[in-house]
Amino acid sequence: MSQLTRRDCLALAAGASAVAGLSGCATPDRASNADHASGPPLHELASEKGIRFGSAMSARQLDDSRYRDIMLRECATMVAENEHKWYTVYPDPDTVNFVPADRLVAFAVENGLTMRGHTLLWHRPQYSPKWVNELDFSSASDTADFVEQKIALLAGRHEPVIYAWDVVNEAIDDQTGAFRETSLSARMGEQLIDHAFHVAKAHAPNAKLTYNDFMSWESTSTAHRAGVLRFLERLKRRGVPIDGLGIQSHSNYEMPDEFTRDKQRNWIAFCDEVVGMGLDIYITEFDVNDTDLKPDIAYRDRLIAGYTRDYFDMMLAYPQLKEVLVWGMVDDQSWLQTFLPRADDVLKRPTLYDKDYKAKAVRTSLADAFRGAARRQAL
Ligand code: G3I
Repeated sequence: MSQLTRRDCLALAAGASAVAGLSGCATPDRASNADHASGPPLHELASEKGIRFGSAMSARQLDDSRYRDIMLRECATMVAENEHKWYTVYPDPDTVNFVPADRLVAFAVENGLTMRGHTLLWHRPQYSPKWVNELDFSSASDTADFVEQKIALLAGRHEPVIYAWDVVNEAIDDQTGAFRETSLSARMGEQLIDHAFHVAKAHAPNAKLTYNDFMSWESTSTAHRAGVLRFLERLKRRGVPIDGLGIQSHSNYEMPDEFTRDKQRNWIAFCDEVVGMGLDIYITEFDVNDTDLKPDIAYRDRLIAGYTRDYFDMMLAYPQLKEVLVWGMVDDQSWLQTFLPRADDVLKRPTLYDKDYKAKAVRTSLADAFRGAARRQAL
C-alpha cells in the first residue's frame, strides 16, 4: 500500500513502519495524558542538540502579557511577523517606518532572545508595496541602486542583533517553478537576486543569509520544489553568498494525514539535494493547516501531533538543520484563521498553544522530537 494515510494508521492502531528512513505513523495518542507544557522549555531541549528554537511575533503581541510569557518561556529566538517587510518599513516612497520593528528588536534584546530577519526582499508583487510594483526603471543599474538603498537601510538598522536574514522570500512561482517577474526584475532578471545577497553581505556581514520559500512535501508542490532546486543551483553556480534554505514548513493545502510515504520519499529527495549543494536548512515558519479535518478537537489534535512528530523526526535527522521557528504560538492569532479559513468557521488549531494559552499535544510532539534528535554543530 503506497498511499498509507494517517487515517489508515489510526485505523491500524499504530501499524508499524517498515521503511528505513521514513516515518510510519506516530502512535496517535502517545501525548494525550501529558501536561503539555511541563518539563524543560522547548528552547532548552533544542539547544541541547545545537538547535535554536523560536517563533514569529508581531508588535501587537508585545502588548499581550500571556503571549509574551509564552515567548519568554519557550523561545531563544524570534522573528517579526510583518514588521521588517517593505510594506511596513516603506509604505510609500517618502516614508521609512521602523517603529514596530524597533519595538520587537528592543523586546528581544532586553530579554536575551536572538532575532532573525524577515525579509530583505519579498519578491512577490502580491506582498510588495503598490508603489514599488508601479515603478518603471530605465536601466538595470537604476534598479540596482534603488534595491541597494532599500536593503542596506533595512539590513544595517539592526546590525549586529539580527543573526540571520531571509534575504529573498518566495521568488519562485509555486504553480510553475519559474522565477517570478516583478517591477524590480524587469531590467535585472535574476541578477536582482544575486545583487540582493551581495548587498546583504556587505551590510550584515555576520548574518547567515537565506533564501526562504514555502515549497513543501505536498503533491501540489512538485513544480515548486523542482523550481526552487534549479534556482538554488543557479545561485550556487554564480557564487552568490547564500548559507542556507529557509523551509517555511506551512502545510498549505494537504492535511496532516496526507503525509504519505510516497510524499515523504519525495520530500527527503528534495532535502537531500539541498544539503548536497552545501546549504544549511532552517525551518522558519512551521504550523499545521487543518482546514479539511472534521471539527472534533481531540481528533484534530491527535493527527496534528502525530504529523508534527513524523515531520520533525525526518527533518531533525539532517545535521544541517540548525534552527526551528514556528509561525506564531497561539491558535486564534494565527494567519491561517483568516487566510485559509475553515468552511464551518470552526477555529483552526495550527500552533502549539490553544486560544486559552494552554499547551497542546503538538507541543509535546515537538519536545519529544528535540529529545530524540542527534547533537549537531550549533549556528
Ligand atoms: O495591519 C493592517 C491593519 O491595519 C488593517 O486594518 C488590516 C485589514 O486588512 O490589515 C492589517 O495588515 C495585515 C497584516 O497581516 C497584519 O495583520 C495584512 O492585511 C495582511 O495581509 C498581513 O498578512 C500577513 C501575510 O504574511 C502578508 O504579509 C500575515 O500576518 C503573516 O503571517 C504572513 O506571513 C507569511 C510570511 O511572511 C511568508 N511566508 C508565508 C507566511 C504566511 O502567509
